[in-house]
Amino acid sequence: MEGKARIAVLVSGGGTNLQAILDAQKAGIISSGEVSLVISNKASAYGLQRAKDSGVEAMVITRKKGAVSEYDVPVIECSKENFETEIIKAIDERDIDLIVLAGFMCILSEDFIKHYEDMIINVHPSLIPSFCGEGFYGLKVHEAALEKGVKVTGATVHYVNEIPDGGRIIAQKAVCVEEGDTPEVLQRRVMEEAEWIILPQSIERICYERIHN
Ligand code: GAR
Repeated sequence: MEGKARIAVLVSGGGTNLQAILDAQKAGIISSGEVSLVISNKASAYGLQRAKDSGVEAMVITRKKGAVSEYDVPVIECSKENFETEIIKAIDERDIDLIVLAGFMCILSEDFIKHYEDMIINVHPSLIPSFCGEGFYGLKVHEAALEKGVKVTGATVHYVNEIPDGGRIIAQKAVCVEEGDTPEVLQRRVMEEAEWIILPQSIERICYERIHN
């Protein structure tokens, strides 16, 4: 492959992981790939603003009727049936090499995943196989970890296959749970000490391998 690998990042919310990727690109931690497209399934996702601030093409693909984005990006409204077809169209038109799910809160179908075999990675805020699978996303993961009373949690970057959070593990990093942690405090520590580090590192490693093979 010539040049840099082209990356699409799929988000649903705040997009702090997207920001970590964009910052890593700026700092040269990611040098073998570049974010070419950001897609959100939510028109209100702040990740869209982050993409725009970095000069990255951003769009909304949503099943919600009448959605308008305050971030002044194109909004593609579609039916439940066409949702993935629209995402595939956007990704394929831009010759994307790697799809990163960074807080993307939709479960993708088997057909979608097969279409992009070994091309989709996800960041999950726990040490898989703990606190993962259907129903474990965002703050719920940290609530479950605190309820169980674990003393160590962390984050995992993994390939996406047809089993939710079940694909091959790429990287993991442990984070200590501290006395008095709330789900919000723990979430922030897991992001700062694990997610924002291992996600950019994993992206660089994969892109490097893609462009040197
Ligand atoms: C992150 O903690 C990410 O690991 C998690 O949602 C948060 C998104 O934050 N993803 C999942 O739970 C997926 N199962 P962000 O929008 O600020 O990156």
